[in-house]
Amino acid sequence: MVAEDFKSVLREKRVFRPSKSFSRHSDIKSHAEYKKIYNYSVKNPEKFWAEKALQLDWFKKWKKVLVKKGDFYKWFAGGKINIAYNCLDRHIKAGNGNKIALIWESEDGKTREYTYSELLKEVSRFSNVLKSNGLRKKDRVCIYMPMIPELAIAMLSCARAGIIHSVVFGGFSSDSLRDRILDCRAKLVITSDGSYRNGKIIPLKQNADMAAEKCGFVKKVIVVKRCGNKVKMKKGRDLWWHQQMSKKGIKDEFPAVSMEAENPLFILYTSGTTGKPKGVLHTQAGYLLFVYQTFRWVFDIKDDDVYWCTADIGWITGHSYIVYGPLSCGATSLMYEGSPIYPRPNRFWKIVDRHKVTIFYTAPTAIRALMKEGNKWPNSCSLKSLRLLGTVGEPINPEAWIWYYNLIGKKRCPIVDTWWQTETGGILITPLPGATPLKPGSATFPFPGIVAAVLKENGKRAKPDEGGELVIRKPWPGMLSTVWRNDKRYKETYFGKFRHIYLAGDTARYDKDGYFWIMGRSDDVIKVSGHRIGSAEVESHIVSHKAVAESAVVPIPDPIKGQAIYAFVVLKKGVERNDKLRQEIINHVANHMGHIAKPEKMQFVDDLPKTRSGKIMRRVLKAIAEGKEDVGNITTLADPSVVDKLKEGRVK
Ligand code: WT7
Repeated sequence: MVAEDFKSVLREKRVFRPSKSFSRHSDIKSHAEYKKIYNYSVKNPEKFWAEKALQLDWFKKWKKVLVKKGDFYKWFAGGKINIAYNCLDRHIKAGNGNKIALIWESEDGKTREYTYSELLKEVSRFSNVLKSNGLRKKDRVCIYMPMIPELAIAMLSCARAGIIHSVVFGGFSSDSLRDRILDCRAKLVITSDGSYRNGKIIPLKQNADMAAEKCGFVKKVIVVKRCGNKVKMKKGRDLWWHQQMSKKGIKDEFPAVSMEAENPLFILYTSGTTGKPKGVLHTQAGYLLFVYQTFRWVFDIKDDDVYWCTADIGWITGHSYIVYGPLSCGATSLMYEGSPIYPRPNRFWKIVDRHKVTIFYTAPTAIRALMKEGNKWPNSCSLKSLRLLGTVGEPINPEAWIWYYNLIGKKRCPIVDTWWQTETGGILITPLPGATPLKPGSATFPFPGIVAAVLKENGKRAKPDEGGELVIRKPWPGMLSTVWRNDKRYKETYFGKFRHIYLAGDTARYDKDGYFWIMGRSDDVIKVSGHRIGSAEVESHIVSHKAVAESAVVPIPDPIKGQAIYAFVVLKKGVERNDKLRQEIINHVANHMGHIAKPEKMQFVDDLPKTRSGKIMRRVLKAIAEGKEDVGNITTLADPSVVDKLKEGRVK
């Protein structure tokens, strides 16, 4: 959130109610009804979730809804299920095979559509391709692809065959891809020759090659031909997707593998406070139920809706609310390949009109960026198909909320501001669009079954507007099952601060009406355009540059991105400070980590502010980077005089 907006959030008093006609057609029609369901759900959580789980198609019913072992939870133990079966076969059996499952629009304006029956065929074929290449249940596959239908197909094919997928965002560098392949020991990588961004081709295959080279256990690389650019194909390792799909003996039937409810479905890497990204592990049944139920209620999905989430599938938002949530509900999900402003800033609104999108889900950073382009862009489109809007990824400032509400939703569409995380699998705090009176900037109330609270350092509940750590007191089906091959890190990160209570890592408050307001991360995670960047990771990349001795990075407010990265860098002895070197180090980070992690500003310094025990005081650095005169208490600093020097050299 942008600093100036923070005050306006505290002042925010406006309330927006859903229209009568919207509520009338919703599953949950009033706040009173929500409260009734909510109270029931938290009094009888296992009963509540078991009732909901009956909506899914099970190969074998579960024996126990919830099995608890310390801070580890197994949902629907003893049950057998397959998420891809629930996303595809189930709807076809119900007679909806001809309904459009996926609409894809390419950056250059072409459209491809898949009905549920067509998608099932493609998915089954590719499951056979995976099998024919030696992949078996519980093997890992890394997917490093642009936003093309083959990405969704690859994920569903893995899920169908019981193979664990790990999607790596196409904007990440080859180093980041390599680290992830190494951590999960993927046998196979799926990529494409390139991807389009703002009309240019980004060489994904080249990055995948550099990463795979260093991982001898990667036996095969399957390449989708997307851009037609020339790529090197390594003999014996690299295979073309289209050739594999039309290979002799590859059938378009593949029986979905019956999976134990708690078997792994996917690993998705995300940044935390320290060290390397964590492999967040989600399982088949609990995750499926949670994305199914949240998608139904939060997006109020109807049979004829055209739903569009603008996220990249490389992030959890795309996993849960482009692929698994919408498809498990039998909805029509739109996928767009490219940039929001290509070729012009009205691209999003044109897509809405062209495909008659009814539900639109995006990030505050996109709203702010499009808002800056001026009202003429949305005003030149009709947008009349829209009936519901959503946001995710970071706090939305009331100004952007109001613009979204007025200019895009034309004051008729509720906005669901959905708070959740990679770890939570799905949405935890959110309005229900036909029920919840909205306050701009607030994610409002917990979803049924979710017990959210704000705690003070001493573990006591914070008072209204007091603020503290956001926690979830009770397990829920979509929660991560562990950190991949690192149970210790799971316990320490999420259950280390308050006993048996899930720590979100966000600061939040609730107001006198019980509305939750998320204020931002309480740890060293920086949210750049809603993307989660670990400061430790950025620092390790800065320090890997040969001229650098030490570094610390902190967030600064950014009017569009929400937050940007400000880096303090101590150079090695004798190295000359100049702008060329500064640019070189910035590019070094971009090349090794990806563009989203690029420091916006970099200040060369002699020393970092450290305590006598050698701990860097980030709080002080943050205040300096933000240009604050008062940096707070510095009596514990080993050398308080560094503060003035740091202030002097601040990069504006
Ligand atoms: C962090 C999780 C949830 C999918 C995308 C991000 C921030 C997320 C909101 C919101 C305020 C939000 C939090 C959270 N966040 N949604 N509606 N309001 N902050 O997933 O990359 O795991 O990041 O995003 O800080 O902890 P993620």
